[in-house]
Amino acid sequence: MRAEDDTAGPGPERMELGAGVAPTDDETTRRQFLQKVACLGLGGCALLGPVVAGAVVVAHPLVERRGSGLLVRLAGLDDLPVGGAPQLYQVLAEPSEAWLKFSRRAIGSVFLMRTGEREVSAFNSACPHVSGPITWREETRDFFCPLHESRFAADGARLGAASPSPRDLDALDVELRGAEVWVRFQNFTPNMAQKKPV
Ligand code: FES
Repeated sequence: MRAEDDTAGPGPERMELGAGVAPTDDETTRRQFLQKVACLGLGGCALLGPVVAGAVVVAHPLVERRGSGLLVRLAGLDDLPVGGAPQLYQVLAEPSEAWLKFSRRAIGSVFLMRTGEREVSAFNSACPHVSGPITWREETRDFFCPLHESRFAADGARLGAASPSPRDLDALDVELRGAEVWVRFQNFTPNMAQKKPV
């Protein structure tokens, strides 16, 4: 089938590329169509620049690296009702954070809890025991790790005399900038009494 096509002489595409061959009306229409497609394609490429740049520009103010950890804008104050249940926020690392050596992905999550008009506490959601996923239990108003059943009070303090967790929940620094809640996100070495950044 293919061999037949190759020996069949120039098809419409080859005619279009041939020098000195006067285009028929159909070919002219087709060529104009192709030119329009090419223009649209180039326009699309021209548009792509600003869109990508815009995404980077938008993403950048959400993450700053200063000192240890990542300073991340996680929420607006209005997202957190005073005295309400803690809200869980995922922390995403941007590719612009070259030191992280991977493309954008979740590197952890943080519980935010608004305890006053301008007071917010933040806890890393990884259990200090062996990094189990901490959850909030509204009925008992405590943090709970289903892996080995560590429990923590709303202020992050360990509950229970024989808690598997060697320390309280890992509190994170919070900065309020106007109505924005920024958190210095860090992970800490599990299963140690001291809070040691990894
Ligand atoms: S990992 Fe949470 S109690 Fe063990």
